[in-house]
Amino acid sequence: MARTRFVCGNWKMHKTQAEARELVRALGALLAPVAGRVQVAVAPPFTALSAVQAALAGSAVELAAQDVHWEKQGAFTGEVSAPMLLDAGCRHAIVGHSERRQLFGETDETVRKKVVALLGVGILPIVCVGETLAEREAGRTLEVVGRQVQNALQGLPAPDVARLTVAYEPVWAIGTGKTATPAQAQEVHGAIRSLLRDLAGEAAERVRIQYGGSVKPDNAAELMALPDVDGALVGGAALKADDFIQIIRGAIR
Ligand code: PGA
Repeated sequence: MARTRFVCGNWKMHKTQAEARELVRALGALLAPVAGRVQVAVAPPFTALSAVQAALAGSAVELAAQDVHWEKQGAFTGEVSAPMLLDAGCRHAIVGHSERRQLFGETDETVRKKVVALLGVGILPIVCVGETLAEREAGRTLEVVGRQVQNALQGLPAPDVARLTVAYEPVWAIGTGKTATPAQAQEVHGAIRSLLRDLAGEAAERVRIQYGGSVKPDNAAELMALPDVDGALVGGAALKADDFIQIIRGAIR
């Protein structure tokens, strides 16, 4: 089945509101020719969401958040809820990013709760999974990634699974300039697809599986040509309009 490719820029903790507007402006002009052929989103920090939403008016680029809390509201200092993200104009939200897992105590269980909270308000989750270098070297990649996917999706009905994006991001490739080889990426993406088939049947064919980890203009097209790579989650290269556009062009079939 042909899945529309999906490229999301994860801006992490970068960009003031003014800088964010400037980047969106630069993207807008360059993106016009690819509009409609690739789904594109950007995930600015919470403080720039509304500035970016306003700057995206009339563009096909969609707004994403970088995280969410699973409760709707309450005494959770520093957190932002799914209804708040919806109110801010978000169509997508990243959950389970390895930086959240490694630095901020994100677990498979909190990822699952966040997925449920997002789907409950109609925001589409991008669920990040990936192994560390030590796990890969110990031959545990498929076990670790499989466990992360299975736990994130536990109890989800198949129609909800179809609304997810999974981002396979080997931790050793994030921000390091090291990218998974096409063979390494396809092996894990293929394994994720077959696990999704076991868990959700036909719905698995609709799930986009993005690759993330040092995606750059010179490796994007090769990675996205793989049968089970349906797009990219892009960090560093999403902060430069020219690089991000070239990556998006690499997603056009
Ligand atoms: P990178 O980050 O492209 O800078 O490696 C990817 C990510 O963390 O999503």
